[in-house]
Amino acid sequence: MSQPDDLAGAVERALRAPSVHNTQPWLWRIGRGSVELHADWTRHLAATDPDRRDLLLSCGAALHHLLVALAARDIAAQVDRLPDPENSGHLATVVVQPCTGDPQDAALAPGIERRRTDRRRMSHRAVPSRHIRSVVEQGTRAGAIPVPVTGRALRQRLSTALAHAAHTQAQTPGYLAELQSWTHRHAGARDGIPLANVPPHPVGLIEPSALRNFPTGRLSQPSQLAGHGAADDAAEFLVLVTHGDEPLDRLRAGEAMSAALLAATQLGLATTPLSQALEVDLTRQELQHQVLHIPEHPQLIIRIGWPATGAGELPPTPRRDLRSVLLAPS
Ligand SMILES: Cc1cc2nc3c(=O)[nH]c(=O)nc-3n(C[C@H](O)[C@H](O)[C@H](O)COP(=O)(O)O)c2cc1C
Repeated sequence: MSQPDDLAGAVERALRAPSVHNTQPWLWRIGRGSVELHADWTRHLAATDPDRRDLLLSCGAALHHLLVALAARDIAAQVDRLPDPENSGHLATVVVQPCTGDPQDAALAPGIERRRTDRRRMSHRAVPSRHIRSVVEQGTRAGAIPVPVTGRALRQRLSTALAHAAHTQAQTPGYLAELQSWTHRHAGARDGIPLANVPPHPVGLIEPSALRNFPTGRLSQPSQLAGHGAADDAAEFLVLVTHGDEPLDRLRAGEAMSAALLAATQLGLATTPLSQALEVDLTRQELQHQVLHIPEHPQLIIRIGWPATGAGELPPTPRRDLRSVLLAPS
């Protein structure tokens, strides 16, 4: 049976989860044999994420990181999602079970420390389809379906949807202020996106860039290999979709995002979560009806590719420490 130290240690691992603009919109309560996950609404990005999708995805990723960290300690857990109809901020209660942890989840654990959001140009080397299949499998196991966007025409439409979203958001009151505020934190801040993790935009693209237009960062782009004129790379794009579009679906999509990112990291692949096209109603519908042609609801795009030759290790982004995100025991 688990000790309180095991639970605190697993929650500490979960804090490494990705979150929109590294807002870390979560709070935790550690009890005897249980952990509660709560949303921290004070960290909601009202202009960027009007329907709180990104916030729930971020918390879902933290929940999945927690389950992986518990499994790595050989601790099995039962999850009750959105357990309190009177409190929409209580996202999950995880109760430790008297049996051994899931080995498939445990196998993802080394990826927690290694995973980074990589916004740089990726390699021209194709990602093998067996790797894509295994990322899809892991995502599906965790609660949402990653749909690969294949073929030039669909990829072009995906880029167009992302460009439309970027254009709309640039004119949305508050959007640029949020971008500025979360990329220019005060010295020593434990949240936000350091400019050391943001490269300047790649030059020479044939199509509009799929990446969010952050203020120019200090991360250098890997140099272009001879024989490759344009800065396009062989990154693949997967869209995470769910059958419904309720808070529970968004939470599950976050869990699936975490599983897909950790699985890709284990394979040595670089990843970028991309949410702009899902933050704008019109482009989310464009993605559903004109790119994917499916009844399911798109929740997030994941870009996956080999790191480009010569791309150095990325620094880890900061996290608030455990004490700052713990709720008093009830
Ligand atoms: C729901 C969600 C949406 C995100 N959207 C974007 C995005 O549109 N563009 C981007 O470059 N990164 C995006 N990210 C990545 C975060 O900025 C990143 O996770 C955070 O800065 C922490 O850095 P790390 O992932 O390297 O640990 C997103 C992450 C999450 C969880």
